[in-house]
Amino acid sequence: MRIQPKLNKTVTSFLEEKDIIFKASKTKASHFCFPEIITKRSKEIKSKFPEIDFYIAHKATKSLGLLKIVKENNLNIDVSSENELKNALKLKFKKIGCSGPKNDSYLNLAIKNDCLISIDSIEELNRINNKKSTILIRISDPLVSNRNLIKNKSKFGILKDELDEVYKILKKNKNITLKGFHFHKDGFDPGMKAGIIEYFLEETLRARNLGFFPDVINLGGGIKTQSFENPNEWHNYIKQIQEKIIQKEEINETWNEQNFGISLNSKNKIEGREKAQQPATNIDSKEFISQILNSKSKHKITIRQLLTECNVKLILEPGQSFFYDSGISVLPVIGSKKTVSGNLLVLNVNMFTLSSRMFEPLEDPILLTKNKKRQKFDCFLAGNLCREDDIIMNRKIEFNTKPKNKDLLVFLNTGAYKQSYEASNPQLQDSPNKYLALKINNKWKIKNDI
Ligand SMILES: Cc1ncc(COP(=O)(O)O)c(C=O)c1O
Repeated sequence: MRIQPKLNKTVTSFLEEKDIIFKASKTKASHFCFPEIITKRSKEIKSKFPEIDFYIAHKATKSLGLLKIVKENNLNIDVSSENELKNALKLKFKKIGCSGPKNDSYLNLAIKNDCLISIDSIEELNRINNKKSTILIRISDPLVSNRNLIKNKSKFGILKDELDEVYKILKKNKNITLKGFHFHKDGFDPGMKAGIIEYFLEETLRARNLGFFPDVINLGGGIKTQSFENPNEWHNYIKQIQEKIIQKEEINETWNEQNFGISLNSKNKIEGREKAQQPATNIDSKEFISQILNSKSKHKITIRQLLTECNVKLILEPGQSFFYDSGISVLPVIGSKKTVSGNLLVLNVNMFTLSSRMFEPLEDPILLTKNKKRQKFDCFLAGNLCREDDIIMNRKIEFNTKPKNKDLLVFLNTGAYKQSYEASNPQLQDSPNKYLALKINNKWKIKNDI
């Protein structure tokens, strides 16, 4: 079954430059990033949502070339480690948010540079030691209309029940300014995110009554966007897997009968389908954000109006939805062979090249080959490590031409996390080239990423 990735027009134009791509990836894999896509997205979100302060999540990319564009477009940055903070300082970002657990040197560097520090624990707050600083309190268990989100457990932030203790500490530590509240978690729909904002607005008013003046709510990332050309292709695929599970048939469409988390429970009912369907959405990130802002609050006005009335600024920290289509990855083929589960296409990369454990590629790659002979070929994609689990994607792929040694597979939409999050070089395997792809005077050029 084919599952087509959503194509960005800029990338489509670059894919016509086969000579450049083959030359660049002659000896090893290459990741390409497209600054033009980030310029366009930065301008778009700034003009569509002037009421939101965007702190773009550094963790989604290690491309300084792309982050430079983020800075040039006057967006802010969210960092989650000391080294990410050093990058942000090197690129001269004016407004830097610091999240994640912080050791002393990360915390002190954040204080020294006047960053907006998202406090992860009461101990972390105490370690600031009343140095002059501006903070957000990250809450791990916000309440939405009396519905506790605790079942979506989070390891980040403090418990809402600890807020009174926080306020007591802040009363004694007058150099620490409480700027607002922070929450990040994937997997919530716009209605639920609106509910979380309402909860934080109530807490904001409570804190103001206690003599603080928080005026920021940071809702993190986790903004959905569409990366499938046709989300129904994924829905149909999952239906097919589900049917096989119900019928107790062999799932030969996936490596080692992977089931994307779908199973039959003890009452013979299917479980996990909703989660498996989740990656396929037809809502784009701008629409997702608009739906949050336009949601009706329990005061009968929209979240947008409520934020304005309470004089509170919303911060979002998009990573995935901001960078996803700004990168592609080109993986060289070593060759093919047979296994008991079917054909295997072995690539000169490994499971860490596309962070496959964390973000398994779901969409079809594009084959670049000079071979003109048509020959249907289905196979699984494996890497070059001495590990049985070094599988690039669990889904069986169909090609119209049999891929051969030195052909290339292009994975689209690898710009967020996939290119870099798990990047490593086990067995001293080569790390991929990193390029910026730039259209200069209507001609494509590539240069090494910084
Ligand atoms: C605090 C924080 N903000 C923002 C993000 C980015 O989220 P996403 O890539 O889903 O937009 C993350 C991701 O882990 C995060 O932990």
